[in-house]
Amino acid sequence: MIDTLNIDIKKIAESKISQIDFNNIQFGKTYSDHMFTAEYENGEWKNLRIEPYEPMRISPASPALHYGISIFEGLKAYKDSEGKINIFRADKNYERLNISANRMCMPQLPEQIFFDGLHTLLELDNKWVPDVPGTSLYIRPFIFSNDDYIGIRPSERFKFMIITCPVGAYYAKPVKVKIEDHFVRAVEGGSGYCKTGCNYGPAIYPAKLAQQKGYDQLIWTDGKEHKYIEESGTMNIMFVIDGKLVTPALGDTILNGITRDSVLNVARDWGMDVEERKVPVTEVIAAIKEGRLTEAFGAGTAATIAQIELIGYKGEDFQLPAVETREFSNKVLKELDGIKLGQIEDRFGWVS
Ligand code: COI
Repeated sequence: MIDTLNIDIKKIAESKISQIDFNNIQFGKTYSDHMFTAEYENGEWKNLRIEPYEPMRISPASPALHYGISIFEGLKAYKDSEGKINIFRADKNYERLNISANRMCMPQLPEQIFFDGLHTLLELDNKWVPDVPGTSLYIRPFIFSNDDYIGIRPSERFKFMIITCPVGAYYAKPVKVKIEDHFVRAVEGGSGYCKTGCNYGPAIYPAKLAQQKGYDQLIWTDGKEHKYIEESGTMNIMFVIDGKLVTPALGDTILNGITRDSVLNVARDWGMDVEERKVPVTEVIAAIKEGRLTEAFGAGTAATIAQIELIGYKGEDFQLPAVETREFSNKVLKELDGIKLGQIEDRFGWVS
């Protein structure tokens, strides 16, 4: 790596931070003072800059608006008791951003632009990293096509940006989910393993239908037969069945979630049996009925662990064991929080 990159910095005239009640922050509503931008044109990334967070100009013909040529990441920074800022597993987000970029015909983003941009932005907006228990700074890096061309082809101009927002809990309480057996999120050969807007936008309508029936979110099943469990909402999904941690194996249709990977690593470190494999819907329903399924939860950056209290399938609702009885997921959440906040030794080297 060469020395720190040259990033042009234009500071905000007056910080908005005094308007924030850090004891009462809603996910994704309030953005920190500054944003980072780099532009790609003629085969190179350039014009690296940090400026006040504000609406930006974009061509009305941008393929990001018409064809969803956009990708994103989500990661979090935490403030420990000494005021040090801990970023959780940013290297994995960087890797995955470039995996998504490849799938969407975007150029690879150099490591130094990602990390120098991120660190410089966090240094400038360090007061925005909250230290109230249960809060963090959500970091949203993203790349989109900045072409001025409505035809279909790989784009030539892009913007990479990072915005950040202080956040509290993603879900205020355990969720009720419905196993979806008509709509699909992803199919073999599709882009389900990427963080591209194309996977998230169309998922809102089926989730809205489920919400009209009293559920909070969906459990996605495979696109061919709806026989196998895939993800839940915008998260990976995990079960404890017969004392083993069971989760769908990665593939074309499943996001390689960083919380997923972290939970699996901690479970293995604790000596728990972990199975990454196809998870039939019938197996989950049978395990609930027979009392062998003791825990079910979503794993994702925004919520970390989202406890599932009820699963609906084909018109029948199955109540799951009380959240207080869920030994593994409650313990793993504490463990991950402890590592992120510097209270538990970072034995995996996840915090930087
Ligand atoms: C996550 O939890 O990892 C997400 O991607 C959620 C985000 C789409 C709000």
